[in-house]
Amino acid sequence: MNKLIGASWKMNMTPTEATAWFAVAVPELVSITDRELFVLPPFPALAAARDALRATSIGWGAQDVHPDESGAHTGDVSAAMLADLGCHYVEIGHSERRRDHREGSELLAAKVAATRRWRMTPILCVGERRRGSIEEATPTIVRQLRGALGALPPAELDEVVVAYEPVWAIGVGAAVAPADHIAAAHRLIRRWLEGRLATRVSVIYGGSVDPSNAASILCLPGVDGLFVGRAALDPRAFVQIAGTKCIEEEG
Ligand code: PGA
Repeated sequence: MNKLIGASWKMNMTPTEATAWFAVAVPELVSITDRELFVLPPFPALAAARDALRATSIGWGAQDVHPDESGAHTGDVSAAMLADLGCHYVEIGHSERRRDHREGSELLAAKVAATRRWRMTPILCVGERRRGSIEEATPTIVRQLRGALGALPPAELDEVVVAYEPVWAIGVGAAVAPADHIAAAHRLIRRWLEGRLATRVSVIYGGSVDPSNAASILCLPGVDGLFVGRAALDPRAFVQIAGTKCIEEEG
């Protein structure tokens, strides 16, 4: 399985800035053929992603979706709209949405279901809030997995990407989680998925990934890829991360 490396721009980049980002990154990214790549712009820049990535195998998608098909939900965006635009991915349950919009299990499960109804790939983010041991983190991670994915049949579960994003490792002032913690969390998530007969799910790590630490994280056992925030706002940094190889792969 190729490593999966993606970026969420969060609430950054106007459509004009997005077009400039793609102009720098795409000519470099298209030569990276041994990775699955994706970019998640904010809604207004999705059309710029579609235009810039049309002739490439680079995936793109949205950072959120409403669970309903249509209707009286002012300001929201449905899975049907995203699918019609051409989105491949929908990010669901990022800790900033759980925090800012009080998103909980029931809503997130409904967003996953809506995304799958339209044959897009949900990227479910899970991760504990406070820094501590993996034993302390386990109940939160399992509760988040069960809450958002517990009702999916195995064949559907295999179409999901899980991003392990410890909240304490995300954002300005944070630092990447220690290697043994990342590896243990990925083992835990993999065991949970295999317990539900899902064997093909990519489990990726997010939280302060940058060009200096990408290789060491990517090489950890059980890490199928990287999910990049801040560092990806610089297209050259994202290109560097996307092209990162771990030592085993080089050999
Ligand atoms: P960061 O964000 O890379 O800026 O820490 C990661 C994320 O939220 O996925």
